[in-house]
Amino acid sequence: MTRTYNWGILAPGNIAGKFVAELQEVKSAKVLAVGSRDLFRAKEFAATWQIEHCYGSYEELVADPDIDIVYIASPHSFHAAHTKLCLKHKKAVLCEKAFALNSSDVSEMIETARQEKVFLMEAFMTPHQPSYQEARKIINSGLLGEIKHLHGWFGFNKSPYDLNGRLFNPALGGGALLDVGLYPLFDALWFLGEPIHIDAFADLTPRNIDQSISVSMQFNEGKSASIFASFLATAGVGTDILCEKGLLRLRRTSSLNQWLEIILPGEPVKTIHFDESSCGLKQEALEAMKCLDENRLESAIMSHQNSLQLMKLLDRIREEAGILLPI
Ligand SMILES: NC(=O)c1ccc[n+]([C@@H]2O[C@H](COP(=O)([O-])OP(=O)(O)OC[C@H]3O[C@@H](n4cnc5c(N)ncnc54)[C@H](OP(=O)(O)O)[C@@H]3O)[C@@H](O)[C@H]2O)c1
Repeated sequence: MTRTYNWGILAPGNIAGKFVAELQEVKSAKVLAVGSRDLFRAKEFAATWQIEHCYGSYEELVADPDIDIVYIASPHSFHAAHTKLCLKHKKAVLCEKAFALNSSDVSEMIETARQEKVFLMEAFMTPHQPSYQEARKIINSGLLGEIKHLHGWFGFNKSPYDLNGRLFNPALGGGALLDVGLYPLFDALWFLGEPIHIDAFADLTPRNIDQSISVSMQFNEGKSASIFASFLATAGVGTDILCEKGLLRLRRTSSLNQWLEIILPGEPVKTIHFDESSCGLKQEALEAMKCLDENRLESAIMSHQNSLQLMKLLDRIREEAGILLPI
C-alpha cells in the first residue's frame, strides 16, 4: 500500500466491532472516526477501540474531511441510503451485505458510484476467503470432473425470537434469505452460473419474514442446486459440491476456521485446513485499500456485477417464495 487510509465506521453495532478488531491488525489502515445516531454510543465505541473522532450522526461522519473510506454496518434496509450519502460526500464505501433490499437499489448505488467516480464494494467475505479460492482451483483443475449438484446451507437457531430485532423485523430487512441464505446462493452462482429455473419455499412469520427458506434451482446441462437457510435450525454453514468423479465439501466452524474435503472413491479423504485468523473482513478491507491505491472504482474480486447478479437472484427467489419487504 502506498499510504495509510483513514476509515470511518458508520453504525457501530455488532459486526462493526468485529471489523474494527480486524482492521486494527492492518498497518495501512487507521480507524479515524465513528458515527452513530447517538453520540453516546459513538463515544462508547470510540473508547473501546481508541478512535479519535466520534460523531452523533452519520451526516457529520461523512463531512469529516480526513476520512478516505467508510465501512457501512447499518441494517440492510439503510444500506442504499447510507451508501449514497457517503458517495455524494466523495467517500469510498465498503458496505455490508446484504448490499441493499433489491436490485433496483443496488443499480442506483452502482450508478451513483460511477457518477461520483468513487470506489464502492460490497463487504461480502466469501470470494476473499482462501478456502473458496482453493475450492475454485480444485473444481477448475478437473480432478472431480463436472459439477452435477451443489447443496449449500447456513442456519442457526434464534428462537424464541425478538420481533423488533434486526433479523425478524421487516423494516430492517429481516429474513433468513437476506441475512444468511445469500452465502450458499453466492456459492451456487460462483460454481454454476445463472439458474434457468427456480422453485422456492419459505416458512414465514406472521410479519412475513422468512424464518426458513429452501430453494431448488436448475441450471444448463442438467445441473442443479438445493439451498437451505434458517433462523430456526442449528445447521451451521456448509457447501457440498457433487461432481462426476467425487465430492468437494466446504466447511466453516463457528470460529470461522475453514476446511475442504476432497472425497474420491477408493482414496483416503484429503482434508485441507485453512486456519484463518480472519473470517474475511480484513481481506475485504485490504482489497478495498488496494483498489484505492490503484485508483480503481470497483474490485475485481467482488465486482459491481457480482453484487448486482446476487441481488437479482435474491429478488427472483423472494418473488417465487412470496416474501414481501416494505420496499
Ligand atoms: N459480514 C458478516 O459476517 C456480517 C455479520 C453480521 C452482520 N452483517 C451485516 O451487517 C449489518 C449490521 O448487522 P449487525 O449484526 O452488526 O447489526 P446490529 O448489531 O443491530 O447493528 C446495526 C447498527 O445499525 C445502526 N442503525 C441505524 N439505523 C438503525 C435502526 N433503525 N435500527 C437498528 N439499528 C440501526 C445502529 O447503530 P447506531 O444507532 O449506533 O448508529 C446499530 O448498532 C447487516 O446488514 C448485516 O447483514 C454482516
